[in-house]
Amino acid sequence: MSECLPFLEEDDVALYGCDMMRMLEVLEPVSVDAILTDPPYSSGGRTSAERSQSTKAKYMQSDSTKKYKDSLSDFAGDNKDQRGYLKWSELWISEAMKALKPGGIIGLFTDWRQLPVTTDALQAAGAIWRGVVPWHKRNARRQRGRYANNCEYLVWGTKGERGMKDYHYALEGFFEITTVSAVKRRHVTEKPVELMRDLVQIVPEGGTVLDPFMGSGTTGVACVEEGRRFIGCEVLPVYQQVARERITTARIGKAA
Ligand SMILES: C[S@@+](CC[C@H](N)C(=O)[O-])C[C@H]1O[C@@H](n2cnc3c(N)ncnc32)[C@H](O)[C@@H]1O
Repeated sequence: MSECLPFLEEDDVALYGCDMMRMLEVLEPVSVDAILTDPPYSSGGRTSAERSQSTKAKYMQSDSTKKYKDSLSDFAGDNKDQRGYLKWSELWISEAMKALKPGGIIGLFTDWRQLPVTTDALQAAGAIWRGVVPWHKRNARRQRGRYANNCEYLVWGTKGERGMKDYHYALEGFFEITTVSAVKRRHVTEKPVELMRDLVQIVPEGGTVLDPFMGSGTTGVACVEEGRRFIGCEVLPVYQQVARERITTARIGKAA
């Protein structure tokens, strides 16, 4: 199999188009300051039949999003059972942490169903678990007779101890930000740029953030806007193209 090479490479950005395990093989060890990523959750249902539906069927169910389903593509890797998800998460986190500098940050998004398995995987892979940062989706729907599941969570940890002297910012541990409207969305589960701009500030300016599951490239756009370097990977060509467009536009905007 040929080596995975970047399809876009600039001073501050490298984008890879392959399975992230292949990209991790070519990354320089101990070279990134943070891994901030939004992997497939393999969630979205109570039963295995519900969880094996297409990603659009699972994650675009509300009245405000379902009418836009046809304009987006499904995404990859969202159909593992619980044991498979735990094993796979542990495996890729272990590999990704080889690229992380000592004391570096690893933060992974998940939802309420996959929160326990994600915190287990992070620790099994050798990170020190430091916390869970809720993202409250202000506009998420409520349901009669239930507490709303209107948060997603960034499970985060460090590679060994993290000294404080190099870090000047004290960051928030809870974010209230509206989801990307279905009309504007370029990815089924796109994260808001505003949220990612806040999160990438865990790394000092000029530091490097790795997102092995970049989807439409939101973390990359946030890094460009906040003056951080970015390394991203996406397996599907349709989303590689979207990430390329969005990150290129952000770079042009920043340079103007
Ligand atoms: C939850 S989405 C990320 C969405 C992203 N945060 C955004 O704002 O657009 C996860 C992405 O990882 C991609 N993916 C799944 N398995 C992958 C793999 N093994 N290697 C690289 N990318 C993968 C999916 O195709 C999907 O686009």
